[in-house]
Amino acid sequence: MKKRLVSVLMSVTMAASLLAGCGSGAGGSSAVANTGDTAASDASSQAEATVEAEEETAAVDIPLAGACWYNFADTFISNARQSLLNIAAADGAIAVEDADSQNDTATQTNNMNNMFSKDVDYLILNNINTGAIDDICNQILEQGTYGIFANTDSPSDENFEKNEKLYSVSSVATQSGDIMGEAIVEYWKANPDADRNGNGKLDYIMLLGIQGHYDTTVRSQYSVQKIVDSGIEVNQIGGDLVCEYSRAKAQEAVAALLANYSDDIDAIIACNDDMALGGIEALKAGGFFGEDGKKVLVAGVDATAVGCDAVREGTLLVTALNNPITLAKATYKVMKLTSEGKEVTTESMGLDGVTVEGRRVWIDYKAITKDNVDEANYDINDTVIE
Ligand code: BGC
Repeated sequence: MKKRLVSVLMSVTMAASLLAGCGSGAGGSSAVANTGDTAASDASSQAEATVEAEEETAAVDIPLAGACWYNFADTFISNARQSLLNIAAADGAIAVEDADSQNDTATQTNNMNNMFSKDVDYLILNNINTGAIDDICNQILEQGTYGIFANTDSPSDENFEKNEKLYSVSSVATQSGDIMGEAIVEYWKANPDADRNGNGKLDYIMLLGIQGHYDTTVRSQYSVQKIVDSGIEVNQIGGDLVCEYSRAKAQEAVAALLANYSDDIDAIIACNDDMALGGIEALKAGGFFGEDGKKVLVAGVDATAVGCDAVREGTLLVTALNNPITLAKATYKVMKLTSEGKEVTTESMGLDGVTVEGRRVWIDYKAITKDNVDEANYDINDTVIE
């Protein structure tokens, strides 16, 4: 491990009695430690008790992690990113730098190479270049750094066998698909008028995230499978709509379909809350969710703050809590344990809803509806990792 230039808190204390020059036998010498500032002068102007800490740049032996996030503008990712920075700052054992791939694979490659040139000890990759996982794993192996695939498709078993410094941290996307499907089934069975055109089929729109992204693939498949398994016939309207987890793209896609299918659409299944909210926006503009009670069932994933507001408002039927703080904590904990030479296990991770299988770390979801929406709260300033 190299010495890193990082910002650290240098402890500096000035006791009130010394500052005020009225101490009893302390000799009146400067109590300034570590800063090299011997001029504890002007003490008379500082009569009040003061405890100060100054931030300084110093070279210390801590590992450096480089996190390449796919898009800082993504609601879920921006929370995870901020949380990881907060945890690292609070814990102080690992320095974290990050970079924005701006939803662009070429930018991601540049960012990765840049991190490698900084000789990072850990590369955290929120990968969107899902067709290049093997190549990326080989590059990480050559570099000799730890590689942590975060919130994205896992590397293959073969990649894990080749490199014992490889990890993945991801939520169990199957659960989020099941949660959306189950809520729709429950509502449909209890409310016959949910079949808006009375054709005996659940006519749905599917809003996909990034094509090929693990969460997109699994959420879309499992949600529909749940519905089909419950004996409900389904009909997909508009084909697979790739909206890349974007609220604006989803709004546009749903608005376009409303022109022809306004009387048919029974449900929107969205692979995240941002897209669900885009769909809801389009529905509202199309006359839904007004006083006449005309509605469409909308399901999303993440339980973001705005997603939860929509649940409270009654426009979002269900969402699945995908906790960005847990993602950040689990990612940090993998680094912390490995940097201390400890094994990464469910027990050593010690985080609620987190299980470890080999070097794959899995995070559980939780169904969020109007009944328990207040349980979806998470705190970006929660940095407790024990
Ligand atoms: C989240 C999405 C996010 C995506 C980005 C998913 O797990 O649910 O909201 O856009 O990750 O990678």
